[in-house]
Amino acid sequence: QAAPGSQKIKVVVSRHLGPDVMPLLLDRPELDVVVWPEERACDRRWLLENIVGATAALVMLSEKMDQEMFEAAGPGLRVISTMSVGYEHIDLKLAAERKVKIGYTPDVLTEAVADVSVMLAFMASRNVRETAELVARGDWSKTPWAPFVFCGPQLSASWINTTRTAGFIGLGRISKATLARLIPFGFTHCIYTGNPHSKPNLEADAQTAQKYGLQSVRRVGLDELAAESDVVFVLAPGGPETRHIVNESFLRKMKKTAVLVNTARGTLVDSDALAKALREKWIWGAGLDVIEGEPDVRLDHPLLKESRCVILPHIGSATNETRLGMGTLAVNNVLAGIQGKKLPAELDT
Ligand code: DGY
Repeated sequence: QAAPGSQKIKVVVSRHLGPDVMPLLLDRPELDVVVWPEERACDRRWLLENIVGATAALVMLSEKMDQEMFEAAGPGLRVISTMSVGYEHIDLKLAAERKVKIGYTPDVLTEAVADVSVMLAFMASRNVRETAELVARGDWSKTPWAPFVFCGPQLSASWINTTRTAGFIGLGRISKATLARLIPFGFTHCIYTGNPHSKPNLEADAQTAQKYGLQSVRRVGLDELAAESDVVFVLAPGGPETRHIVNESFLRKMKKTAVLVNTARGTLVDSDALAKALREKWIWGAGLDVIEGEPDVRLDHPLLKESRCVILPHIGSATNETRLGMGTLAVNNVLAGIQGKKLPAELDT
C-alpha cells in the first residue's frame, strides 16, 4: 500500500490482459498501472512515451526492448516481464548492464505448444490445407473418394513403416512434451541437435529412451537430423545464432516424404528456401505456426502459394488456460521484480 502522498510505482503494460489477470495489478493501490488502451499490438511510440519513469514493463513478444526503450524508461526500470517464453525481442546484455531483471513465461505454455506441434505435423502430412480448402469452396463433389486421391505419407508407424523417427532442432521442454505425444503413434527413434555450447549426455539420452520406450535417443548433427527424420520439429530459441538454421542445404537433405514443423520462431527457417523445397518437392509438406516477418504475411508471400504448407497465425499457446497461466505468471514476475525479489520465472542474463 502506498502511503498517502508517497509516489506510486509505475507499471506500464503493453496489452490489456483480460478480466481475470488485470485486477492482479489494477487492484493494488500502490501501483500506477498504465495500459495500452487499444485492441491491437502496442504502438512503439506509445510505449516509448509511457515507459518513461516506469519501474516495471509488462510486454508482449511484439515489443522490441532495445537501447532506445531502455533509455526512454530511465534508470528506475527494475524489471521487464514478457508474456512469452521467447525473449529474443529483449536486449539481454543491456538488461544485465542496467541490472534490469527479465521475467518470462516458461512451463505454463509447454503442453499447448506441443499440442499444436503435433497437430501441424499431421496436418502437413495429410494434406489438410488443400483438402479442407476444397470442402470450404464447395468443391468436394468434384473430387469424391478414390483409392489414392489426397493421400499423403503416414506419419505414424504402419504395416509398411515399422520405425518412425522424430527429429528435433533443440530438445527442450516443448520438444520433450511433443515427443511424449508421438509415442502412441508408434514413433521409435528420436534424434536431436543440441546447443553447441553444451556437451552430449549419453546417460540422459538413454534415460529418455527408456522413459518413453524408444529404441534410441541420439544427439546428432544437423545433416544427420535432416536426412533421418520423418518429421523435423523446429523448437530452438530465435535470435542471430539460430537464424535460418533450416536453409536450402538442410532442406535438400531431408526425406521426400518428411514434413517440417516450426512452432518456435519464424527466423529459424528461410522462407524462400522452404517455398522452393515445397515447390520442387524435396520434402512432403510443412506446418508453420510462425513465419519470418509475421504478422506481415501478404497474399504474395511465397509460402502462401504452396498448398502443402499449413500456416497458422502464431497460435501455439492460444488456449484460454495457457494464456491465463502466462498472464498470471507475467504479473507475478512484475510484482516480485518491483519488490526486489527473485522472479518466479527469471532469466539468467
Ligand atoms: C512464446 O511465448 O514465445 C510463444 O511464441 C507465444 O505463443
